This record gives sequence, C-alpha cells and structure tokens, in this order.
Amino acid sequence: MRSAALLLLCPLAAALSGRFWHITDLHWDPDYDPAAGAGQMCPSGGSRAGPAGGPWGTYLCDAPWRLLASAVRAMRSLLQRPDFVLWTGDDTPHVPNEKLGEEKVLHIIEKLTSLIRETFPDTKVYAALGNHDFHPKNQFPGKDHRIYSQTAELWRPWLNNASITLFRAGGFYSEKLPGSRTRGRMVVLNTNLYYDQNNETAGEEDPAGQFRWLDETLTNASRADEMVYIVGHVPPGFFEKKRGKAWFRSGFNERYLQMVQKHHRVIAAQFFGHHHTDTFRMFYSDTGSPINVMFLAPGVTPWKTTLPGVKNGANNPGIRVIDYDPDTLQVLDMVTYYLNLTHANLMEEKSPVWEEEYRLTEAFQVPDGSAHSMQTVLERIQHDPYSLQQYYEFNSVSYDLAPCEGSCHIDHVCAIRELDFTRYEECVGTSSSASALVGVWPFFSCLLLGLISLQQAVQ
Ligand SMILES: *[C@@H]1O[C@H](CO)[C@@H](O)[C@H](O)[C@H]1NC(C)=O
Ligand SMILES: *[C@@H]1O[C@H](CO)[C@@H](O)[C@H](O)[C@H]1NC(C)=O
Ligand SMILES: *[C@@H]1O[C@H](CO)[C@@H](O)[C@H](O)[C@H]1NC(C)=O
Ligand SMILES: *[C@@H]1O[C@H](CO)[C@@H](O)[C@H](O)[C@H]1NC(C)=O
Ligand SMILES: [Zn+2]
Ligand SMILES: [Zn+2]
Repeated sequence: MRSAALLLLCPLAAALSGRFWHITDLHWDPDYDPAAGAGQMCPSGGSRAGPAGGPWGTYLCDAPWRLLASAVRAMRSLLQRPDFVLWTGDDTPHVPNEKLGEEKVLHIIEKLTSLIRETFPDTKVYAALGNHDFHPKNQFPGKDHRIYSQTAELWRPWLNNASITLFRAGGFYSEKLPGSRTRGRMVVLNTNLYYDQNNETAGEEDPAGQFRWLDETLTNASRADEMVYIVGHVPPGFFEKKRGKAWFRSGFNERYLQMVQKHHRVIAAQFFGHHHTDTFRMFYSDTGSPINVMFLAPGVTPWKTTLPGVKNGANNPGIRVIDYDPDTLQVLDMVTYYLNLTHANLMEEKSPVWEEEYRLTEAFQVPDGSAHSMQTVLERIQHDPYSLQQYYEFNSVSYDLAPCEGSCHIDHVCAIRELDFTRYEECVGTSSSASALVGVWPFFSCLLLGLISLQQAVQ
C-alpha cells in the first residue's frame, strides 16, 4: 500500500522539483605545500602550529588546488546537471594585503571561474563577490572600479548585458531565472559595501545606490508576480561562534532588515556565505511571525579562523544541493556533502569520497526548508539538547564534535533568531542571566538516553 503510494507520488514530486548547487568560500591558497615543515606549510596558516598537512589540505590552511578540483569533481558526479549554481565568493587566501595585489586577486578569480565553467560548461552560474575578492581586501567602493569591470568580463558568459552594466558600477545584479517553468528571479548583492571593515563606504547612506535599487527590484518583482532568491556573501546579523561579532555597520544592518520585512512576500529564501559554517538566520515580522530564512552554506576551505575568541574554528570542506520548486522557489530540501579531511589525508586516496553529511528534512524532521519549518528547527535546537548537538556538529561540517552547552547554546540560538543589534544584545543578556536553566540540560540528556535505551530494549 505504502510503496504503491510512493510509486505514484515520487515521479510527480521529481517532475515538480528542481535542484541547484550552492558553494562558497573556496579560498584557494596557491602556495600550500604539505612537505614544508610545521608553521611553513602555507602563507594562509601563518606560523600557527597544528597537525601535519596532507595532500588534500589541512585545517590550518586555505584550500590547495587539489581540494578544489576534488570538490568540483564531486559536484559533477553527485549532480551533473543542476538548474544553476550559486557561488558566493571569497576566492583568495587569508594572507596580508602585501602578499596579494589587484592582478593576483583577479588571477585567482579567473582560475576559479575557469574551474567552475569547465565543470559546468552549459550551466548558468550566479556568482557574488566576497570580501576577499578585492584589493585591498574589504575595500569595495560604491562606484565603478577596475576590479568590478574585470570581474564582469570574467563572468560575461553567465551574465546578460544589463547585469554587466550594473556589475561594473557596483558589483550587484539581478536576472530572471531561465526556463518557462519558473517565475523565479535571482538578486545577487554586493553586501561587502556594508561590511564594517570597508572604509570606502563608511560615511555613505546607500553605497552604489544598492538599497534603492534593491527596493525597486523587489517592488518590480512583486508587480510581475515573480519570486526571488537573494544571494550574497557577507550576511547581516551576528557570527554564531563569537558573541557580539556582527559584520554590517549598524545602519546598514537595520536597513537590510527593513528591506526584508517590507518585501518578504516575494523573497523565497536567501543564500549567503562568509561564515564558513553551516547555519541559518530567521527574519520576523513586527508581531513575531517567521517571515523569511537565510541559509549560510559551509565553506570549501577548511581554514581555522584567526578571529580572536573563537575556539577551534575550523571546518571540514562542505558543498550543498538545494531541492526547490521552480515555480514558487520554495526550498523543499537541502543535502550537504562533505569531505572528512582527516580521513582523506590518512587514506592518501587518489580521489577521496565526498559523503552525504545530512539531509535537512530527515535530520530535523521537517517537511521542507520554508521559514515556518526553519522556525521549527530553531525551536528544536533551542529546547532539545539532541537537536542542538546535531546542529552544532553540522555547524563545523562534522569537524568539532565537542558538546555544545551553556554559552555555546546561547550564542547559536541568539545568532539564528536575532539579527537586530539591540534585540541580539537583549537575547544574550537575558539568556545568560537565565543560565540557571542550563543546569537542567544534563538531566534532560539522561532522560533522553534512558528513553532511547528503553526503546532499544523493547525492540
Ligand atoms: C550585448 O552587448 C554586446 C556587446 O556589447 C552586443 O554585441 C550584443 O548585441 C548585446 N546583446 C543584447 C541582447 O543586447
Ligand atoms: C580603515 O580605517 C581604520 C580607522 O581609520 C584604519 O585603522 C584602517 O587601517 C583602515 N583600513 C584600510 C585598509 O585602509
Ligand atoms: C522597475 O520597473 C520600472 C518600470 O518598468 C523600470 O523603469 C525600472 O528600471 C525597474 N527597476 C529596476 C531596478 O529594475
Ligand atoms: C573523520 O575521519 C577520522 C579519521 O578516520 C575519524 O577519526 C573521524 O571520526 C571522522 N569524522 C567523522 C565525522 O566521521
Ligand atoms: Zn571566507
Ligand atoms: Zn568572507
């Protein structure tokens, strides 16, 4: 009975859904050399001590070419014909500006562009600039610049003429998704303009006029009955691995949140990078209903962050497929694949296997990736220690398997739930003063373990 129903439903579901890749933060380190001694393997690792490097990279360093080639090979074998690819930036290694330069940055963008084009020659790629895709890093101006125009040339095969003109002037663009079975539109932003490390735009109200353009673009989308994905690199809100660490300047953060509130009906979802971690962000109406969700995809680089105050902030390389409804752009599911870097290096295989890490709907028992479902996921993470731990392990792509308790729990939940600066401070403030609650977690875990063993005993 059940299999008959599945037989009937599955082809239908398959016909109705589409799939695309989201990759981010490749951070190629051209000078990675595992044969060099400790502290010398890579410019991106500085002089930090750590485990020996291997052929596929190491957690202290940005990605060697071999790792990136392995990632795109895995993408091709896992899903060769995606509807499109989202590529949300950060191509260059974490090294001081003095070690790069405009030409070197453009050369790296060109190499990665070629890698992706050769892997998916007939596929549309929506590429966004990351804060490292500039020289000096982060210093994106709100007007035309050679890096914008050169990058527009590199991405010409993926862009229409109007997008090229826009991109040259500010590094952002919007295009209707190809095909007749969709009313989708992609809006690719240059949120590096809002980064607090960007001195070029510090005093400006609306750098490159991007907010005004976004407002108009979303208004037009609504009139045309389109649905939109917003894609970018640096996200609004806070970093979940360091309390109080935001990226946007406060005024830009506020304006972004207002934009999502105003236009949430046409925004089907948002896809960003920059954190190198796997997490998501919730957006609410003034009355507290969940109205939108932003998915942050894990990085391909395993690089352990040097941000002071972050403990053990590395990750396994991750890549992600999103299942979606091509008509409404509703996110139906999400599968994250990863390379266990430790394992790959131990095995010294010619072609290491990228394994499925998890499927959203299975891992968190929700029907899809809508804002409503992701609110349910958030509530599970908030109240159920098992879900919190599961989310936490996925957050570093199964690199950091330590228990997440106490302030870890607070930092993750508040970052997911509160993107507004004041509300975030209130969240970490109240949660900390209510930290007496934390004492009940071990009790719950015991109860849960007890129930599980009871159930196993019964079976
Ligand atoms: C796009 O621009 C190119 C070169 O500027 C031109 O040759 C081409 O006709 C334009 N395409 C369209 C569809 O306008
Ligand atoms: C940006 O401005 C700050 C404060 O004036 C200064 O310390 C920093 O060096 C500047 N950064 C760049 C890249 O110009
Ligand atoms: C919005 O639509 C109007 C009317 O068609 C058009 O003139 C304008 O350029 C559009 N704005 C954007 C940002 O696409
Ligand atoms: C990754 O591989 C290492 C070495 O084989 C192993 O110890 C570790 O448990 C693996 N991690 C995961 C999440 O499977
Ligand atoms: Zn990055
Ligand atoms: Zn970044």
